[in-house]
Amino acid sequence: MTQLHDLAEAQRLALAIVDTLPEPFLVLDDTLHLLAGSRCFYEVFGEDPAKAHGRSLFDLSGGQWDIPGLRQLLMAVAAQHTRLEGFEFESDFARFCGTSEAIGVNSGTSALHLALLAAGVGPGDEVITVPYTFVATVAAIEYAGARPVFVDVEPGYWTMDPAQLERAITPRTKAIVPVHLYGQPADMDPILDVARRHGLAVIEDACQAHGSEYKGRRCGSMGDLGCFSFYPGKNLGAYGEGGAVVTNDGAKARKIRLLRAWGEEIRYEHTYRAFNYRMDGVQGAVLGVKLKYLEGWTEARRGRATEYARQLADTAARLPVERPAVRHVYHVYVVELDDRDAWRARLTDAGVQTGVHYPIPVHLQPAYRDLGYQAGAFPVSEGAARRVLSLPMFPELTSEQIAEVAAVLRAPTPAASPA
Ligand SMILES: Cc1ncc(COP(=O)(O)O)c(C=O)c1O
Repeated sequence: MTQLHDLAEAQRLALAIVDTLPEPFLVLDDTLHLLAGSRCFYEVFGEDPAKAHGRSLFDLSGGQWDIPGLRQLLMAVAAQHTRLEGFEFESDFARFCGTSEAIGVNSGTSALHLALLAAGVGPGDEVITVPYTFVATVAAIEYAGARPVFVDVEPGYWTMDPAQLERAITPRTKAIVPVHLYGQPADMDPILDVARRHGLAVIEDACQAHGSEYKGRRCGSMGDLGCFSFYPGKNLGAYGEGGAVVTNDGAKARKIRLLRAWGEEIRYEHTYRAFNYRMDGVQGAVLGVKLKYLEGWTEARRGRATEYARQLADTAARLPVERPAVRHVYHVYVVELDDRDAWRARLTDAGVQTGVHYPIPVHLQPAYRDLGYQAGAFPVSEGAARRVLSLPMFPELTSEQIAEVAAVLRAPTPAASPA
């Protein structure tokens, strides 16, 4: 690259070049200084390139980006994917889920909160969900001002037991929030049937279920609204926090778009009391690129689950059971083990990292004691919390690594082995 001493001149030149390119690019000089970004780059950062030079109120094109840590981050994104194309992420993700709308927000928790508000949930209402979930499902119900009411999960599948729904419904019940836990869909047909008969909204917590399917329908698309998390560890993870609500209801989508960004229909005129829950542009860019790989990663996860089933068949572990006619996406691979903690210690000793999702159901969490539930109220959830163990699961997991896990779990049970 020619020596360019004047940054403004360099930016003008670079922009002139990138505007001639069919695809969006960042332009970096030979010391990796950010000189300019293409139209796409500025869309991601919310600034029109035409405005970004000289005449703009906030010039986002200059030295603010010339910071070593930031430069490295942008370089990492650019190096992996060469172009930033995440501004199309919302429409791409809606298509992926089989819905007409997707609204990007800053976390799965925010997605749940806004979905509940868009469904009309508010103070005085009750919302039925499960205690065997990540705490955010329950927290979001309270953020909306409603009271969480629990029903137990089904043994083996660990998702909402539809047979228990009817007796949890009261005149105050407004919505049902099934959770597609671990990437396994909840039994949606009977849940939707109960909801329809009682005039209740259904909001799917699909935060662990990107691309998961129930009888050919994608998780998130079956209820009134579906909520996703793009926390980095999720099957589709951002470069930081992120989330989305998907729906086929245009009016609810519009409301959520307003609620995520201060309820402004006209700039600085606030129709609703709202939130700053916007999706960060960089996250949208990263997610837009990663989404293209998700189907491949999901199939790899499913393949790893098949390999686990083969190799763990003669071990103490009880394997996860796929519900008939579903596509489980194995966000986590969870087995059941009596004496779980002893097995876990053995795996740790062998250098195998494991997790417990989740050791305490929400109704027994110290923070939620005032909901008034006692131990024994939800025996299936409580039993699962004692026995579940999450084994390593990621698309690149090798058969040899699975064999290492199987070898530990094939040993005599901890209780039976000599001390
Ligand atoms: C089932 C479930 N619901 C909600 C959430 C909340 O998502 P986030 O962490 O993006 O707020 C998570 C995230 O772990 C989750 O697993």
